[in-house]
This record gives sequence, structure tokens and C-alpha cells, in this order.
Amino acid sequence: MRTAAALIGTLALVLGTAFVLAAEKPYTIIDGKVDKKTFNGWRRYTESCLRCHGPDGAGSSYAPDLVDSVKHMSQDEFNEVVVNGRTNVNAASENVMPPFGEVEDVVTYLDDIWAYLKARADGVLGRGRPPRIGD
Ligand code: HEC
Repeated sequence: MRTAAALIGTLALVLGTAFVLAAEKPYTIIDGKVDKKTFNGWRRYTESCLRCHGPDGAGSSYAPDLVDSVKHMSQDEFNEVVVNGRTNVNAASENVMPPFGEVEDVVTYLDDIWAYLKARADGVLGRGRPPRIGD
């Protein structure tokens, strides 16, 4: 009996944790429409990142697919690259990720850009300009 109770307790804990994790998405999407934060992330991405990383975070011949990158990076790792930049000296042609640490329109909205890319990575947001909640 005691084992069964312990097992149920553990199960409840695991389910509870999964629920909390699921609830802690950085974006909100209702009926395919995004919150202000996620929309702003799309806007900032389009302004500052699209020219190298391609439309909708999908990557280009020059810079990696960020929709894929954020599946394997923590937000801290992501922020670090965006703020400090990175140069890949091993590539045949030198690929440079410029530092955005001094670019206010980017550093102020790192959370928003992250939210947008995570929504794309989780497959809950399609390509193109996202519709806004309340539109
Ligand atoms: C001038 C072109 C350029 C712009 C603009 C640019 N990037 Fe990059 N970015 C790159 C290149 C090239 C790399 C790959 C560098 C390397 O291989 O080390 C990269 C790498 C990254 C990575 C690491 C990806 C990984 O899988 O390790 C992140 C995250 C990133 N960029 C985010 C951004 C964000 C967010 C913006 C807009 C605020 C942005 N980049 C704008 C060229 C650019």
C-alpha cells in the first residue's frame, strides 16, 4: 500500500512538473493569434535578423536556421550570441554573426525575439506576419 501511495505521489509530481513546464511557454497563442510580445518579436526579427537568417527564421545559405537553433539552445546561450556576436573562422568563407549588444531595438527585446522563434520552433506558429490577438 505504501509503495502504491508513493508511486501515485511521484506520478502526481511528474505530471504537475510537466504541466508547469507546458504552462511556462514564452509566448501566448490563441486560435493561431499571437500576443503583443510574440508579435513584437516577429517585428524585431524581421527588422534586424531576416537579412541574414532568412524570412521567418528559416535560415539562408549565409546564416543558420534559427528555428532549429533555438530547439538546441537555452535562452542564455541565445542571448549570449546575439549580444556578443560570433565569427566562424572554420567555415570556408568567414561567416560573421554581428554583436547586437549596442543595438537597443534588439537588446531591449531579446525576450520577444526568443518568444517568436520558440513559437516557430514548437510548430505552433506558421510563416509570415502573425495575426495578433484582438485583430
Ligand atoms: C550580418 C548577418 C547576420 C545578422 C544581421 C544576424 N545574424 Fe545571427 N548569425 C549570422 C551568422 C553568419 C551566424 C553563424 C555564425 C557561426 O557560424 O559561428 C549567426 C549565428 C546566430 C546564432 C547562433 C545559432 C546557432 O545555431 O549556434 C544566433 C542565436 C543568431 N545568429 C541570432 C541572431 C539574431 C536574433 C539576429 C537579429 C537580432 C541575428 N542573428 C542577426 C549572421 C547574422
